[in-house]
Amino acid sequence: MSSFSDKISGNGLSGFTVASFESHRVQEMEKLILQAGGTPRVVSSAREVPILENQEAFYFYEKLKTGYFNEVIFLTDPGVAILFRTLEEKYPPSHVYNAFKLTTLIARNPSVAKALNTAKLKPTLSVPEPNTWREIVSTLETHRSIKNLTIAVQEEGVSNPEFLKTLRDKGAKEVVSVPVYRWALPEDIKPLTHLIGLILNGDIQIVLMTNTQQFHNVLEVARGLGQEKQLMDAFSRVVTGSIDSVVSESLRAKGIEPDFEPEHGKMDLLVKEASEKGRVLYEKKTKKGGYFRSSSGSHLSLNDSLFIKACRQEHVEHTPIWIMRQAGRYLPEYRAIRSTVSFLTLCKRPDLAAEVTVSAQETLGVDAAILFADILLISEPLGFDLEFTEPGGPVISNPFREAQDFARFRNTDAVKDLGYVMETIKLIRHRLHPHIPLIGFAGAPFTLASYLIEGHSSKDFFHTRSIMEDDFAVWDELMNRLVSATVSYLNDQVKAGAQALQLFDSWVGILSPAEYQRFVLPYIQQLINRLIPGIPVIYFGTETAPFYPFLKETGAGVIGVDWRMPIDVAWHRLGNVAVQGNLDPHVLLTTPENVRRETEKILKLVNGKPGHIFNLGHGILPNTPMENVHAMIETVKNYKNI
Ligand code: CP3
Repeated sequence: MSSFSDKISGNGLSGFTVASFESHRVQEMEKLILQAGGTPRVVSSAREVPILENQEAFYFYEKLKTGYFNEVIFLTDPGVAILFRTLEEKYPPSHVYNAFKLTTLIARNPSVAKALNTAKLKPTLSVPEPNTWREIVSTLETHRSIKNLTIAVQEEGVSNPEFLKTLRDKGAKEVVSVPVYRWALPEDIKPLTHLIGLILNGDIQIVLMTNTQQFHNVLEVARGLGQEKQLMDAFSRVVTGSIDSVVSESLRAKGIEPDFEPEHGKMDLLVKEASEKGRVLYEKKTKKGGYFRSSSGSHLSLNDSLFIKACRQEHVEHTPIWIMRQAGRYLPEYRAIRSTVSFLTLCKRPDLAAEVTVSAQETLGVDAAILFADILLISEPLGFDLEFTEPGGPVISNPFREAQDFARFRNTDAVKDLGYVMETIKLIRHRLHPHIPLIGFAGAPFTLASYLIEGHSSKDFFHTRSIMEDDFAVWDELMNRLVSATVSYLNDQVKAGAQALQLFDSWVGILSPAEYQRFVLPYIQQLINRLIPGIPVIYFGTETAPFYPFLKETGAGVIGVDWRMPIDVAWHRLGNVAVQGNLDPHVLLTTPENVRRETEKILKLVNGKPGHIFNLGHGILPNTPMENVHAMIETVKNYKNI
């Protein structure tokens, strides 16, 4: 390999302080930046944590040894080593070796091939540069048709849903992901905090990104410091280089457009590109005052609304309030419109849905509007037949029950398939008071899956549990598909005009903490991680008290709590997040005096702590008297936080 100094001329980075979050090759990166004349600030942003008791890996192996997989794709060299170690601790090494002999092995790059050689295995196919998932797909396609193949993919800490989706779209019968380690924050985050401070101060001119996890971790630390938004804004003023198309895509998903990407995904080429283009790009940026558009920055007044400030845990004079299911049957205006059309028609008529949304916010005088829609609308474009019966609620006549049902599962293009929702959002934004934020929403994957599987509301969740417990691969696949669909649905809602997002996981409280951590948490993390950054995310569930100690791991900045626990206790267990809740909706069935008393009780427990959004502990009940609703809202509005 030619040395870096052969490849550049001049001191392209002189006068620049260049940041990198590279975790493995810190010294190499420092050296490259120095060679180009720059001042390096390289701080490791992640550490790999092997998954202990890796059930997914064992499950994969049980199938592998029967010759079940046509192809096994390896993405990372440390991943190969850890996977073999994990399996060889549980099974005889010779069996493991023989099991891998039954399938075609694909190595993403030469280092992965080398790691396989160490295990005395030789990859059947090698992938050309730049070694992204796209080359893997094309290599595979030249070798044989992807149609009907069963494929396992050894993944990095963060899954690459687009890669898996492409394999499925091209007709793969089954695509199983085999995670081997997760990325965690470094043990000591002080150096990372310091580097974030430098970026915020404008002391960094160029940032180089070398893997998909880095930006996620940096944002997580910034969020912990209450500086996520400021960091996103600061990123609009620095030049950002991305090592390859995979990293670029992950940055775009977070709302950052990389300024450059080298032709091949190599660190020296990345620095070379920075030294050649950095100066011009930086001048362009600073002259124009930043051409990055922050997704939240376009609604400045909304950003300073009570509701959004509370989501960011900033101090507010008055606690903001809105009500879950605020546009519903308890409202006379809603009943009037609803008497002329069915519930589904109402959802699909943007003019009516917008009217219902805006009139509820105006009648109540609450601090946020919530899109009028339903968590189950997304089931239709996914291939399910949805109906709302009266009484009884939603019914899906062709529920999901087994792997074969994936055959009729469709992918959705939210903007096209749920265009009526986007249209509604645009109309709402047009009609709503410009200082009132609009909350978009979706069902969280577990609650959505439970409806798709049961076909209706349930008490025992029998079929859902049996898929979860008996067929993890099917559960995993279903959840992954729902995550992808929901990410695109929610990001499209933001692009259409929503300022915050709520995920409804209404029924997740039926699980034990261990079940939640295994069958739900990783998917919620992935989902939230892929949402446009800077947009507050509220994660709501009921009976989730046993999960409080780890709910902030979801990545949601706001946690919705039900009424089963005093709010101060709940908040203490949740830790450093904003909290939404938690008046018992049944209190609203009593008297105005009682409503005032119970509402004040909650406000007193919170005691002005920044980051509280007043709401009910679950949706408002259809037989709630208006008088009581007003009593609650007035009490909150008249209460002054010191
Ligand atoms: O909060 C709002 O005002 C926005 C609109 C909204 C609706 N549903 C309208 C609706 C929201 C955010 C939802 C979420 C929703 N939908 C959830 C999660 C929230 C929760 O309460 O746990 C769930 C589980 C659903 C599924 C659903 N939709 C059920 C079980 C039912 C029937 C029960 C019921 O309340 O009637 C619906 C129907 C529904 N969704 C109505 C409304 C206003 C009532 C339909 C009608 O007008 O007849």
